Amino acid sequence: MSAPVRSHAAEPASFVFTPEYMDRAQRIIAKYPEGRQASAVMPLLDLAQRQNAGWLPRVAMDYVADMLKMPRIRVYEVATFYTMYNLNPVGKHVVQVCTTTPCWLRGSDDIVKACETKMGIALGETTDDGRFTLREVECLGACVNAPIVQIGDDFYEDVGPEHMEKIIDALSRGETPKAGSQIGRRSSEPVGGLTTLHAYAGEPAQGDD
Ligand code: FES
Repeated sequence: MSAPVRSHAAEPASFVFTPEYMDRAQRIIAKYPEGRQASAVMPLLDLAQRQNAGWLPRVAMDYVADMLKMPRIRVYEVATFYTMYNLNPVGKHVVQVCTTTPCWLRGSDDIVKACETKMGIALGETTDDGRFTLREVECLGACVNAPIVQIGDDFYEDVGPEHMEKIIDALSRGETPKAGSQIGRRSSEPVGGLTTLHAYAGEPAQGDD
């Protein structure tokens, strides 16, 4: 769960969607039947966060609540429940390391350590230059390719500490490192190659020789 709603030193005095974001918001709201516009609260909070450098000030939550004609407290409830919403300013790159059991068994502690050493910050902190925020998160739903690190909208899979260092270096240079498996695994196939469906793949099935 995220931190409770509170005003922050960087809290802007007001928030309104830019014309571009307003257009996107209206298209999202139009997907829901009349009287059910509150269902758009999550994507609208996401839009507000994207417009506001990756975090949700209270005025943005209030703006979304008013737009959807919802009690503000209901919007706060949503924003404080999901870790995808940042209630305080964050770095340009939010690095979220999954440390739940499958990722932990596959070495997430080493990834956290690599991040902390490379960035010079601890979990929950942001670098002084505002480039990175480091977080640990619960299961990101991609355990089959554990360990997993989410950075922005991208998932990095099969991550080892050496990959993590390269990813951080690339981001520091302003590059976008390739997302997905860092060991070249295709999708979620077994790391050691096919174990079933050999015939389907044009290979002799096990026991056929
Ligand atoms: S436990 Fe890490 S993605 Fe599920």
